[in-house]
Amino acid sequence: MTFKTLDDLSDLTGKTALVRVDFNVPVDNGAITDDTRLRVALPTIEKLAAKGAKVALLAHFDRPKGKVVPEMSLKFVAPALSALLGATVPFASDCVGDTAQSVIDALPAGGVALLENVRFHPGEEKNDPDFAKQLAALGDLYVNDAFSAAHRAHASTEGVAHLLPAYAGESMKRELNALDAALGNPQRPTLGIVGGSKVSTKLDLLKNLVGKLDALAIGGGMANTFLYAQGHDVGGSLCEKDLKDTALDILKEAEAKGCKILLPLDIVVAQDFKAHAPNRTQDLGASLSADDKIFDAGPKTVAQLTEVMAASKTLIWNGPLGVFELPPFDAATVAAAKFAASQTKAGKLVAVAGGGDTVAALNHAGVVGDMTFVSTAGGAFLEWMEGKPLPGVEALHG
Ligand code: 3PG
Repeated sequence: MTFKTLDDLSDLTGKTALVRVDFNVPVDNGAITDDTRLRVALPTIEKLAAKGAKVALLAHFDRPKGKVVPEMSLKFVAPALSALLGATVPFASDCVGDTAQSVIDALPAGGVALLENVRFHPGEEKNDPDFAKQLAALGDLYVNDAFSAAHRAHASTEGVAHLLPAYAGESMKRELNALDAALGNPQRPTLGIVGGSKVSTKLDLLKNLVGKLDALAIGGGMANTFLYAQGHDVGGSLCEKDLKDTALDILKEAEAKGCKILLPLDIVVAQDFKAHAPNRTQDLGASLSADDKIFDAGPKTVAQLTEVMAASKTLIWNGPLGVFELPPFDAATVAAAKFAASQTKAGKLVAVAGGGDTVAALNHAGVVGDMTFVSTAGGAFLEWMEGKPLPGVEALHG
């Protein structure tokens, strides 16, 4: 990879590093419910501070659409970040101009400031060159540590990278290395697991993966569309019947490219969308009533998946295999996750996961810490799995 990293930097005393982080954290009643995105930014902040730089943090929160929306201020993040860093992080109520500059000026060497939501300015999402210039005027160098916002071509993720010497931060570097190990340059055989509810949201992803992987397990609601396309009864399950031909095309494409597709062999069926709803497990081919819905894959499917996983060296995982939020319909997801974790711990598998509710599903299975890498990104991880260039990453390439 051709981008510069913080290891290319020496003493930064007297310099200001403008660092794009992703502090788009989940919040409930004003309280941060998961501070992972703050924690993953710490190594970059601490490394730059240790080199003597003043660190000015650029971030977005929510989607204020170019207007000042007080409820979307980033101010609430400063105390949480101060606590994690063990030092007060002053907050600037604007991310450009005199307001931002005076807060940065007051920082000691190694001090850290958080600037207000970049999306309060319309120039941010438009990637307006003038706004990018105003951002660049605050710093001597630019560091992008926000992989999870790298699919956006915005002024703070893309435009400014062309105006200052640009570097990948520690978290960005870890993400890119992990993704490269999973899909760019993986050890084979490779296996993908793609779950979730709809084929329509993951068409590009499925098309890209069947051209790259040795095997691909399709689970969750989207598997129903494939089963339906193959002529199986799916009862009243979630199913995109209009995508029948698309599903068949993907299966044909997989066959042509030598990617083995794993679909459910058996299914767990219930009628009520609630935890512990009465349910039964049956093989494909057994009949379903119009009220029956497929909520999970059965044990034969899990056995098939773990057998292929045992023979694989690399796993890339996006999306649950069933309705994991409602036990016992979490069984297939939990069993596959636990097997992936044990293979990874035994040094037999490189397992990379990310996107949407994948992290929640792996957390539920209690194995997030046992995977090789779990991405904090949602949309960026998906776009990367689709094979699309990420503007924020492209802009870092020299
Ligand atoms: C995310 O939360 O996935 C990123 O911060 C990107 O946010 P966005 O979808 O509002 O651009």
